[in-house]
Amino acid sequence: MNTKEKLLELFEQNTGEYLSGEEIASKLDISRTAVWKAVNALRTDGCNIDAVPNRGYCLVSDADVLSENGIRKYLDASPAGNTINVYTVTDSTNIRVREAALSGAAEGFAAIAGSQTAGRGRLGRSFYSPSGTGLYLSLLLRPSSLPSKQTIKVTTLAAVAACEAIEAVSDRKAEIKWVNDIFIDGKKVSGILTEASFSLESDTAEYVILGIGFNILTPEGGFPDEIKNIAGPIFAAPQKDIRNRLAAEFINRFMNAYRTPGFAGYEEKYRRRSLAIGRNVNVLLPEGPRPALVLDVDDDCRLLVKYEDGTTDRLNSGEISIKLS
Ligand code: BTN
Repeated sequence: MNTKEKLLELFEQNTGEYLSGEEIASKLDISRTAVWKAVNALRTDGCNIDAVPNRGYCLVSDADVLSENGIRKYLDASPAGNTINVYTVTDSTNIRVREAALSGAAEGFAAIAGSQTAGRGRLGRSFYSPSGTGLYLSLLLRPSSLPSKQTIKVTTLAAVAACEAIEAVSDRKAEIKWVNDIFIDGKKVSGILTEASFSLESDTAEYVILGIGFNILTPEGGFPDEIKNIAGPIFAAPQKDIRNRLAAEFINRFMNAYRTPGFAGYEEKYRRRSLAIGRNVNVLLPEGPRPALVLDVDDDCRLLVKYEDGTTDRLNSGEISIKLS
């Protein structure tokens, strides 16, 4: 842990209490100047730290500070894995996890960021990842023998876990737009990007990177023009400790489902939350949009659609998107 992280830990152990500069310096065995610098660094990260002459510094208790300890506080006993790396800013948490995977990190390694400079979305798109209003999280998975065709199930498991996590920390009802988008009241509040490396010999996944981004609040100045009609926040106003809670709720739920043999029971949960089943949509084909009725999502996560001419098709999420009509 560096000085900033140690100071945050000390503040978290004494939330709402004032600690003098001298007391902090002695507890962390650093100079008063180092205390002052670390306080400023935490403030830059978005921590609300009050300073009162003759009393010292205090982490204001309604703060929403993303931190490893803050997340661990809410994690189940045997959650993901041993390593949780928290970044104020990084290019992409999926990239951090890929690096970890290539260096041999164990399943459950997590990279969690307060903002991303190069957040990645599905089908080569970018994912808007501003600071202070979102949560960006990636997990490393090393499934024992997951055929390449079934890696999409990681995305759909995550979609169910994301809805359940959102509902655990808010009073909003979350739904899934096939295959990887979470919607609340018609707005996208979360997106999932699963990337994987496969063994050519066995056609099974060597490792899988599960990345998920949540729009917790509306960013200052609103969402950018390109996504302002699609994206929305989970909450209208700031919430205490929400990013740590949401990260842990998601990890708890996802790992629990992922460790259930055969991922049993989640397909039904996915279908129940599906925004698309029974709706008219436009299938976005290379030759242009084609209206269709969504009949179902099959057990391989393909979308079963019926076109206006009566023909049916099973759409593969790796290639096709839909637009709700
Ligand atoms: C999408 O909506 O197309 C998927 C978005 C996935 C975004 C998450 S944020 C955490 C992780 N890191 C990334 O660069 N992307 C995923």
